[in-house]
Amino acid sequence: AIERTFSIIKPDATRRNLTGAITQKLEESGLRVVASRRIQMTEDQAKKFYEVHAERPFYGDLVNFMSSGPVVVQVLEGENAISKNREVMGATNPSDAAEGTIRAEFAESIDANSVHGSDSPENAELEIKQFFTEDQIVG
Ligand code: CMP
Repeated sequence: AIERTFSIIKPDATRRNLTGAITQKLEESGLRVVASRRIQMTEDQAKKFYEVHAERPFYGDLVNFMSSGPVVVQVLEGENAISKNREVMGATNPSDAAEGTIRAEFAESIDANSVHGSDSPENAELEIKQFFTEDQIVG
């Protein structure tokens, strides 16, 4: 089915001017960018976005990192967009990521891992809503 998923190009990637290279990988996988905006997340926005990880030991560092510089938030659309995006991103830890994936090519560490992608249809919908209104998404 045609799905939408939510993607973030993280601060480590915007800092290294990789917005285009990462978007190209997403597009080459067949995903379409149907909404995109460059923002600086506030600490509160990052806290809310990663609320599911609030009890994890890495939560504080994660919130600090995600609000440390510009990010590009995107809505991606396509056939099985959620799993396709996870496939092209590669494993969370770049040392486990398959060759040719975004994280294998670009990520610096498990924290500075260049991209985020929704892990389920439910989360995709919630995450998209945190950053985009329906009229800002043009399929
Ligand atoms: P992301 O997909 O944005 O979701 C949560 C982020 O926490 C994850 O990518 C990683 O960058 C970061 N993180 C740091 N340590 C861990 C860990 N042990 N397990 C999962 N995610 C981690």
